[in-house]
Amino acid sequence: MSLVRNHVLISIDAGTVMAGARGVERALIEEVAKQGLKDEIAVLETGSVGTIGQGVVLVVYPEGVYYANVTPQDIPELVEEHLLKGRPLKRLILSEPPKQTVIKKEKAGLLREQPRIVLRNCGVIDPEKIEEYIAEGGYEAIGKALTTMKPEDVIDEIKKSGLAGRGGASFSTGMKWDFARSAPGDIKYIICNADEGEPGTFKDRLILEGDPHKLIEGMMLAGYAVGASKGFVYIRGEYALSIERLEKAIAQAREYGLLGINILDSSFSFDMAVMKGAGAYVCGEETALIESLEGKRGHPRKKPPYPVTEGLWGKPTVVNNVETLGNISEIIKNGASWFKSYGTEKCPGTKVYTIIGNVATPGLIEAEMGTTLRDIIFEYAGGIKAGKKFKGALIGGAAGAFLGPDMLDVQMDFVNLREYAAVLGSGAILVMDEGADMVDMLQSVLHFFRHESCGHCVPCRLGTAQLVKIIDRIAISKGTQGDVDKLLKISDTMRDTSFCPLGQSLYLPISSSLKYFRGEIDARIH
Ligand SMILES: Cc1cc2nc3c(=O)[nH]c(=O)nc-3n(C[C@H](O)[C@H](O)[C@H](O)COP(=O)(O)O)c2cc1C
Ligand code: SF4
Repeated sequence: MSLVRNHVLISIDAGTVMAGARGVERALIEEVAKQGLKDEIAVLETGSVGTIGQGVVLVVYPEGVYYANVTPQDIPELVEEHLLKGRPLKRLILSEPPKQTVIKKEKAGLLREQPRIVLRNCGVIDPEKIEEYIAEGGYEAIGKALTTMKPEDVIDEIKKSGLAGRGGASFSTGMKWDFARSAPGDIKYIICNADEGEPGTFKDRLILEGDPHKLIEGMMLAGYAVGASKGFVYIRGEYALSIERLEKAIAQAREYGLLGINILDSSFSFDMAVMKGAGAYVCGEETALIESLEGKRGHPRKKPPYPVTEGLWGKPTVVNNVETLGNISEIIKNGASWFKSYGTEKCPGTKVYTIIGNVATPGLIEAEMGTTLRDIIFEYAGGIKAGKKFKGALIGGAAGAFLGPDMLDVQMDFVNLREYAAVLGSGAILVMDEGADMVDMLQSVLHFFRHESCGHCVPCRLGTAQLVKIIDRIAISKGTQGDVDKLLKISDTMRDTSFCPLGQSLYLPISSSLKYFRGEIDARIH
């Protein structure tokens, strides 16, 4: 019988590793042994627990106490006080633990909270152990599909669930799979888009670091549904820990016979490879990504033909985002109606957000579709830092829209936001307090676009350069009367004439910042 009375989870993600998580982990293991607690205290690694910028984070279960900014020097006191004497060490307790991991007693003293579909295992299991994923019901969905469902049934279930792509364009995942399945040809591919170049977005990284097997299972199900036997994960080259964990997970899945030939004694064969991107924002656009995977320069292709009919090496290809694929196994396991019980009628399910900027607790949040911006900021992220006032937020990354205070109570989902000329995009939410300077904000967005324009087409190449010139002179109060109108006119022309969505979407941050904050921008000109 196990004598373990406390589980101490240490969050190992790229941010906590940089803050010294490995050193804290070593100190913790040594100190637990030194104080004679080896049989009673289990030290376990997990992915992100949802906190950002809080240094090294530990969570002690079953109490569910979060410790932040822990250093190796704190460990002897923490072990003695909390783990030996049962008195939580107040000075290190995180006062506002992330809402999405609100403590609720469940199996084996490990805890999780409700609307977590994609993040259900993140910050809970050890992502480097396939056994832990399996113990949480992992690979059950592919087992179910291979033994009881035809590929068409899988597509039908995904269609019925109403799942829309989480990579930005929100296209129906079931329809996309259906197009690829119906396209002629024996060779088809699944690509997972893990390029994640949108500024302020890091949800895909944390999903991959926290639960890589979920992505593998999602890709296998996509492969089975579409008739593909090969998958590629195109991942941002800087995501070292995600790459390491994904490669380990693929090797483990192969060892278990879950990847390879005749999986689970079926006629379905599937294998995957990880390909690193070189950090160009445009390579997240699906056709530029395919060019890059083929070893060419990452220029977007003309559409149509769409990748579902002519994608990688000219073959029908499904490109899906990490979060989209993270939903698949749960839908197949629990059914489309279960999935539709989350979110709104038009946009079922949840959305994973990265919330950063002037909030009390920045981090990773999974909320139901339709949750208001107010709830996300004030319920999940602890409100505005230092008691200041909310000024606005940039939603959906640089290619997203600025929203003002009157948008706080609008339900956020793909369909509803469109009515307000805004987008959920990548799920990044950058919150600004009353001190934020809107000209500075717009200036950084426009500089980002000029830097990332691939130069392939004239409207975007010249347009981004012109926009930067104008905003730079406004920023130093040397703007002229017509400058704001020029910003609008140029970005409108880019929307109508640019070759790909990168240039087409720049009007969004420009028009929205002028809609809500024109007075401030005009004032800087004068
Ligand atoms: C400039 C640009 C960058 C993009 N970057 C990403 C990205 O990093 N990740 C992603 O999943 N989709 C990105 N997209 C959207 C993809 O083109 C594509 O729509 C998406 O991968 C499809 O997956 P989904 O249907 O699961 O959303 C980007 C689009 C554009 C125009
Ligand atoms: S719109 Fe911009 S990123 Fe897209 S092809 Fe043209 S220059 Fe390249």
